[in-house]
Amino acid sequence: MLPPRAFVLGHPISHSISPAIHNAAFELLGLPVRYGAWDVTDDELPGAVIEVRGPDVLGANVTVPHKERVIPLLDRIDPAAEVIGAVNTLYKRDGQLRGDNTDAAGFLRSVLEVGFGPRGASVLVLGAGGSARAVCHALLGAGVASIVIANRTLPRAEALARHLRSRHPAARVEPMALDGVTGSAVRDVDLLVNTTTVGMHEEASPLPAGLLPRGALMVDIIYNPPRTTLLRQAEAAGLRTLNGLPMLVYQAAAAFETWTGQSAPVAAMFAAARAALGQQHGA
Ligand code: ATR
Repeated sequence: MLPPRAFVLGHPISHSISPAIHNAAFELLGLPVRYGAWDVTDDELPGAVIEVRGPDVLGANVTVPHKERVIPLLDRIDPAAEVIGAVNTLYKRDGQLRGDNTDAAGFLRSVLEVGFGPRGASVLVLGAGGSARAVCHALLGAGVASIVIANRTLPRAEALARHLRSRHPAARVEPMALDGVTGSAVRDVDLLVNTTTVGMHEEASPLPAGLLPRGALMVDIIYNPPRTTLLRQAEAAGLRTLNGLPMLVYQAAAAFETWTGQSAPVAAMFAAARAALGQQHGA
């Protein structure tokens, strides 16, 4: 029998669609687990992690703003989470509470599924925050040849590039200011990934439409709204596009499989995610 409770810990958390995604999967497989959203402030995080250690808890996800600060509260960190410097999944093995990061694997699965071939590819990543870090590690681990990191704040792009080079010495990783991106910088790009928050709350794009690389796959890791200004511009320019929903569902699927040892029913998880987002838009 699996422990009957699971959570996502975050703050704020009320708009999380993780409960809908995971509960659909538990129900479909007939597993008596309820997954809830738990609003946890910074001060409450240590107590919440103690609760997760309890025998009635299967595991947990961790989201903004706790992905980094949860690390010292755990017994062991898996290699992906160590390299990314952030944990999104807590699980139990051999009496330990461990932390993993399934965001990178979720991102990679989402782009491989639509036919992206990472070997030797040239990538432009917009943004240099935690999401960019996970995306870049996933891509470098999968064998892309080069990544340009373009960020509004250049020193942050430089710091991320240094970190990535230290972990992947054979890769070409170059930092750039976002407003310094030119036509020549994007010409041979096979994959463009937006990890900035631009377009999440407003009709705005982090890159002028004229700079969209022809023939590239354009991924915006934002899933709400489902089609950002940038994705619409990319579609209009004839690029193949992908939003962040597959990444979200596949990171959830990887966590689900770690907790249950069973294959995640991803079709049901996609359907639940779309329904939950539709309800939020309708609200
Ligand atoms: P996450 O962990 O989701 O990546 P984050 O660490 O807060 O979130 O990073 C947000 C990213 O969006 C950063 O790259 C940020 O750029 P700065 O490093 O210059 O802050 C980027 N971003 C946010 N608002 C932006 C804006 N208006 N224009 C361009 N980039 C923006």
